[in-house]
Amino acid sequence: MSETAGTAPAAPAAQDSVALVEVALRRDAEDELGKLREKFTLDEVVYLDGNSLGALPAHVPARMADVLTREWGELRIRSWDESGWWTAPERIGDRLAPLVGAAPGQVVVGDSTSVNVFKAVVGAVRLAGDDRDELLVDATTFPTDGYIAESAARMTGRRVVVVDPADMADAAGPRTSAALVNHVDFRTGRLQDLPGITAALHAAGALAVWDLCHSAGALPVGLDAHGVDLAVGCTYKYLNGGPGSPAYLYVAERHQAAFDSPLPGWNSHADPFGMTPGYRPADGARRGRVGTPDILSMLALEAALDVWEGVSVDAVRAKSLALTDFFLECVRAYVPAGRVESLTPAPHAERGSQVALRCAEAPAVMAECIRRGVVGDLRRPDVLRFGFTPLYVGFADVERAARVLAEVLADIPAEVPAG
Ligand SMILES: Cc1ncc(COP(=O)(O)O)c(C=O)c1O
Repeated sequence: MSETAGTAPAAPAAQDSVALVEVALRRDAEDELGKLREKFTLDEVVYLDGNSLGALPAHVPARMADVLTREWGELRIRSWDESGWWTAPERIGDRLAPLVGAAPGQVVVGDSTSVNVFKAVVGAVRLAGDDRDELLVDATTFPTDGYIAESAARMTGRRVVVVDPADMADAAGPRTSAALVNHVDFRTGRLQDLPGITAALHAAGALAVWDLCHSAGALPVGLDAHGVDLAVGCTYKYLNGGPGSPAYLYVAERHQAAFDSPLPGWNSHADPFGMTPGYRPADGARRGRVGTPDILSMLALEAALDVWEGVSVDAVRAKSLALTDFFLECVRAYVPAGRVESLTPAPHAERGSQVALRCAEAPAVMAECIRRGVVGDLRRPDVLRFGFTPLYVGFADVERAARVLAEVLADIPAEVPAG
């Protein structure tokens, strides 16, 4: 890597490899969370893409077979009551709440993250009042948040101000209604200062809306402790809910009575089965619902959350940092100098649960890593992303991933800069 350009060996040295394999074996043997891996359906592949799609918890297919054959196949419409389908969005929201540091009654599951960004941003702008005409948006945001914030601002007569998260606290002022910030940067893995930015927004009289897609399930979030106003997140990454599993919306209890959803569907009506023409919002987290919940995906998520029983998020965070530290150490030892540059901050306080490496030959390198059984992903044009899910990734996986990366780089020549 660039920090070690002068010291890194030209190719993996055998003695480094032996030493690091030994370290990996020892750390796996000491790892309290290591036994959780058997709760997942995994094979010999080193799966470092759980920050995109989490692995399948092994018991979920049997639960889904029951949902399909008995709850849907036999009970049919009775399941809305008898199988608890109707209340699933709030029930699963409460199940997920401790993972993001929320007390019960504030999280509702449903819709995509994109749709929840819309609800949260418009809701926040309306809560802030009409004399605040600016909406701050994280300059490094995942694109969907930026697109939706821009549309939400147009619809509500606000102006989007794009701000680097590091400057968010200074940018907040009397005109700021709210800021939409990603807790962890999807590209670099940088962890933003949620407590500090939230406090600065509050000091300016503005609301904080956080996107937790890349932090929930990987590190403590502390929504209640830090006074976050609204938050959204997906469940298919570190929460292993499955492809397209429903997202969630957090509205802090103190805002719920005034939360004015821009998508007031019949599911969030105070009396949904009254079928009346006028809208009257439900109380509590249910106000964040829109229409009929996607029950199959939702119940797969509910089952997937079983793997968290008895697991502490602090222990997950400690292992996540140990894994990313060890990966960076192995990359430093194995990868020839100058071939990759880490975009992921070195300080723990600024790091999520992924490592992003800039590499000129990234597309070819990632394709070959995947072919050789190390699955990360690519963010074009030149970023190799490796996500570390502490529930099922071990230290031997990490060592192997770095070793395979070095071997691939040895086989794919560095591009000669033009000119
Ligand atoms: C930070 C972040 N926000 C939003 C999204 C989009 O979520 P969805 O496709 O569920 O709307 C993603 C997807 O990966 C993401 O990483």
